[in-house]
Amino acid sequence: MHDIDIEMVEMTLDVVKYAINRITKTNPELGKPKTEAELRALVGETVTNSGIGGEKAFELFRDVLVKATVPIDHPRHLAFVPAAPTRAAILFDLVTSASSIHGAYWMEGAGGIFCENEAMQWLVSLTGMPKPAFGVFTSGGTAANLSALVAAREKWRKDPKNKNIKGLMITSIGAHSSIKAMAKVIDVDVLLVETEDAMSGAGLQSVINGLDASEIARVFVVVATGGTTNAGIIDDLSGVAEVCEQARLWFHVDAAYGGGALAAKSVRHLFNGIERADSVTIDPHKWLFSPYDCGAVLYKNPEEAKEAHSQEGSYLEIFKDEGAHGFNPSDYQIQLTRRLRGLPLWYSLATHGTEKYAWAVEEGIKLANTAGKLIAAHPLLELVREPSLSCVLYRRKGWEPDDYRNWTYKNHEAGFALVTPTKWKTADGYETVSRFCFINPDTTETDIRDILNSME
Ligand SMILES: Cc1ncc(COP(=O)(O)O)c(C=O)c1O
Repeated sequence: MHDIDIEMVEMTLDVVKYAINRITKTNPELGKPKTEAELRALVGETVTNSGIGGEKAFELFRDVLVKATVPIDHPRHLAFVPAAPTRAAILFDLVTSASSIHGAYWMEGAGGIFCENEAMQWLVSLTGMPKPAFGVFTSGGTAANLSALVAAREKWRKDPKNKNIKGLMITSIGAHSSIKAMAKVIDVDVLLVETEDAMSGAGLQSVINGLDASEIARVFVVVATGGTTNAGIIDDLSGVAEVCEQARLWFHVDAAYGGGALAAKSVRHLFNGIERADSVTIDPHKWLFSPYDCGAVLYKNPEEAKEAHSQEGSYLEIFKDEGAHGFNPSDYQIQLTRRLRGLPLWYSLATHGTEKYAWAVEEGIKLANTAGKLIAAHPLLELVREPSLSCVLYRRKGWEPDDYRNWTYKNHEAGFALVTPTKWKTADGYETVSRFCFINPDTTETDIRDILNSME
């Protein structure tokens, strides 16, 4: 299994050829799922006692299985939060695997962690968080949010009177589902500020004012969103910071999706106040063109995160000793053994420079504004709200929820586009509408026109 033989050489050529083809394809086939039974019928048993051989397994993946997946970088994949990793970043993902580096501790990973930290320094500079702010790369936004919430809760629990009471988090209904899910993981209650639009400092304050003293004592963190996933809305970060500072609450900003836009001059002012956060989540695998999986959590005071996350163990002591000569990423988030998942971002940043990143993010914002204009000019379409960051919510006049769903399936089935419906809160409940999220700078105005015209 670990020998270098002719089969292994052939497998290498197959894999590298495939990777080159895929990386250079600008319009990959928009695959769609099949049922497990269909896939089983097409590929048969793949894990057997004696193995089916690398050539066969690769053939099954290349010719059948990958076709049952949706390429996240397709220019007409505008659903959820798509992605568009740079070619440099993808190539370096291969290098990251080939280099077999343990990314938990400086002792083993120094050179690679150095690279990650170069990229992290840029992220920190985008937020404007003051020294000694710093952070680490995580598997994604969920893990980054969890790491921040654990750090916040541990700081709060340092006060003996909080030892045996259940924490309470305040966030808004626009917050990403992972915030509520991670609250379950750490067993804290969640109080939602009832606005799908920006949560304001005043809105937050009035929710706090409505709590009794015992509830106020349980509040340990406020989570604001720097770009809601549904609509790209940025909470009033300065206003929320003000309330948190006065009430001595940990202020977390979930900018997993929107954080890339910190690099875009046209919208940077919308994030003012983020520099006052105790922790920030930014996902390079969303709007900073990294391959999956790459999230990041940044802390105003990394020592607080270290107190919460640093693991103890007799076999780990050497890392605190020899490893203390450098930065140990495992001390600042929930994971011990970790891939150096910030390396692809570092290589791409080093290759292209930060200005190209700013340009590519601005392209996503421009595409959203272009879509907004096309929708406003279309007789059958209507904007639900003005585009925000790279998100556009719009309705097709006269359509019911089933019409949106059927249209999504039809376009996906045809291999044309993936654009999915969402819901928007109105005075009477929730309305089903259509949604674009632009990330890929290769998406064109023609792509948008063609998609909108398919609603006629
Ligand atoms: C605002 C926000 N936070 C958190 C997440 C979760 O990130 P991940 O899927 O990388 O865990 C998302 C995902 O879309 C998001 O948009």
